[in-house]
Amino acid sequence: MNIDLQSEYLTAAKGLASLPAHTEFSVAWTAPSNIALVKYWGKKTGQIPANPSLSFALEESVTRVSVEGSRLSSPTGPLIEYYFEGGANSRFGDRFGKYLKEVARFMPFLRSLRLLIRSENTFPHSSGIASSASSFAALALCLVQIERALFVSPAEDRDFFRKASFLARLGSGSACRSVYGGYALWGATSGIDGSTDEAALPVTGSIHPGFLTWRDSVVIIRAGQKAVSSSEGHRLMNGHPFRKARQAQALLNIGRAMDILQGGEAEHLVTLAEEEALTLHALMMSSQPGYLLMKPETLHVIERIRSLRADTGLPVGFTLDAGANVHVLYPAAIESRIRLFLDTELKVFTENGQIIHDRVGQGPEKTGI
Ligand code: PMV
Repeated sequence: MNIDLQSEYLTAAKGLASLPAHTEFSVAWTAPSNIALVKYWGKKTGQIPANPSLSFALEESVTRVSVEGSRLSSPTGPLIEYYFEGGANSRFGDRFGKYLKEVARFMPFLRSLRLLIRSENTFPHSSGIASSASSFAALALCLVQIERALFVSPAEDRDFFRKASFLARLGSGSACRSVYGGYALWGATSGIDGSTDEAALPVTGSIHPGFLTWRDSVVIIRAGQKAVSSSEGHRLMNGHPFRKARQAQALLNIGRAMDILQGGEAEHLVTLAEEEALTLHALMMSSQPGYLLMKPETLHVIERIRSLRADTGLPVGFTLDAGANVHVLYPAAIESRIRLFLDTELKVFTENGQIIHDRVGQGPEKTGI
């Protein structure tokens, strides 16, 4: 079923334009980054995905966003002041500012607000862990919290996370999956009731317990800004010769992933994740113009992981985001064995010896009133 959330929220936004006379508030949320097993790549207008995707939230890699607000004398806002990890940051600040102007379509009261926004990450910036996902998810959760506090009585307080997911999506597509802990699906998928292109759907309830403690160790091949941004990569999927085939493959892989996640077969999950990761990079390489984000070290790491799996039968595999860094995926039961492998065989390929250890996370948390 495809729910038309946009019309629902535009309708709901009517009548919210005038704020209570004395408006002052302070809210804060912490939200996780996430890693996709089935990848979103390419989009239609309005941050609607070209294909559905499925990810799990991370536990350690999170962003905390706090928002303090007060009323402006006229609706000329939102006026924002932004600090990233304590310092002014015009690149992120401009992106948040643009985002809030767009979100004001659904939350007209934002135009009457001055907002002081601060954010901080627990993980290094540009490390292959998506800070845009965790940042927009945390900010969207703050916005829904503010809306609820100003206008909606607790009795009407339903669909809090669904609305946050809808709003987070407008900032960064994958952010819509970060308002939930565990596993989340984004994109209309036949056979999955409640799935929609407009927001993510939590699917943790149907997942085999073995996958709820799954590990993700990120081998940092290159820190720093990547050569081609994800936005540009999504854009290059318009008119891509493999676009249709990719949509069909992703739909099929969502079904396969859900079956595996319910069944608990670890080795099937890692091979599916690898197929998805390499497809993502194949799409980048075959774009017009094509580009390559993997580095020689990325391939060395992939080969070592595959050799370990072939030699030992251990269910260890990898996924890649739109970058050179390798996310090593494995079950908690073999953690000490894989940590040893990471240190002795993969660390040599990292920049600065960096490997970030993470795992499936519990999801966002309200960290301020
Ligand atoms: O949400 P964006 O626009 O940063 O794109 C994310 C795309 C991938 O990370 C490569 C895949 C995904 O589904 O998260």
